Amino acid sequence: MRYFIANWKANKNLNEALDWIDKFLNLPSRYDRIKMVVCPPFHLIHPLKLKLRDNKFISLGTQDVSVFESGNYTGEVTAKSLKGLIDYAIIGHSERRKYFQESDEVLTKKVQLALKYEIQPVYCVRGEKDSIPENIKIVAYEPVYAIGTGQNEDVEKVIEVKKKLNLSEKVSFLYGGSITESNAQDYLVNSYIDGLLIGGSSLDPDEFFKIIKLG
Ligand code: 13P
Repeated sequence: MRYFIANWKANKNLNEALDWIDKFLNLPSRYDRIKMVVCPPFHLIHPLKLKLRDNKFISLGTQDVSVFESGNYTGEVTAKSLKGLIDYAIIGHSERRKYFQESDEVLTKKVQLALKYEIQPVYCVRGEKDSIPENIKIVAYEPVYAIGTGQNEDVEKVIEVKKKLNLSEKVSFLYGGSITESNAQDYLVNSYIDGLLIGGSSLDPDEFFKIIKLG
């Protein structure tokens, strides 16, 4: 099973998101060998959920969950409140570590809350030095220099990092960082890599489709 996870980051309003889904659903996709997950900003989860009501193949995820379970935390979106709406949550993205100072301790708490509410964490690491909380089933390696720069990391180097991470065989290992339709195949032909976490190239449905077709 190959994962294709779209991280829309802080992009798209309601109309743009609905338009993306409409266009995507009109493409002649086959999903039997792949797991496709769209991670929009929070405000788009519910409208997309309604759009995808009859679709068994596209799952939804978030780009974060709160470190709090519930209560007086203005502006937070909790795993508890997201239960049933999403199946996955990206946790530990380097942009959150950098711009929101998320520590390993905070990230571990987020993972625990996600799991408690039946949300599968997609845990991001920047390299082999980042620690990985317990019970993680999906790890995404995203070297910071490769994110949004057009400088994707060589497959050999990605595999070296995977080996150093010493993951259990049951853990799926994804790569992310400047994936495009022209380099995606290099990763997908490799049995060490179980899928891709895609930022910029997931914003256009045609571009994203060209990548998932390679899976
Ligand atoms: P880009 O694909 O835009 O480099 O972003 C990668 C990423 O950060 C996905 O989470």
